[in-house]
Amino acid sequence: MKRVITYGTFDLMHYGHINLLRRAKKLGDYLIVALSTDEFNRDMKNKVCYFTYEQRKELLEAIRYVDLVIPETCWEQKMTDVDLYHVDTFVIGNDWEGKFDFLKEKCEVVYLPRTEEISTTKIKTDLHV
Ligand code: CTP
Repeated sequence: MKRVITYGTFDLMHYGHINLLRRAKKLGDYLIVALSTDEFNRDMKNKVCYFTYEQRKELLEAIRYVDLVIPETCWEQKMTDVDLYHVDTFVIGNDWEGKFDFLKEKCEVVYLPRTEEISTTKIKTDLHV
């Protein structure tokens, strides 16, 4: 069984997220999403989420492409996650292109093209107009 992992915040779930998750799942048989916790978002990514970690987790778990959701609590956990969860492929959107090439010593690394013209930030901005 080929195991794939991806990381992200996935706040205000939108079709860009779904596109990413669908293509990620196609790369293997079992998709793990490491979901940024509220603390990690606030302290390390400078993001304030609309939905809590538990709410974002429930939404992800309801998506057919997602098999397991685990917490992302620090930048450094990727190396250990790959071993812990027997990951074959690490995948993330190409806004992160090249940033995680250090994982290539442990698994395949794939950067998928982002879906154009949608992001959590854009939704928030547009709704404030
Ligand atoms: N993603 C994507 N296409 C988009 C938006 C996001 O493929 N239009 C991907 C990202 O590249 C990442 C994952 O979805 O691999 C989770 O992204 P996240 O940062 O949670 O979503 P964004 O909408 O980019 O959020 P923000 O605007 O807060 O950065």
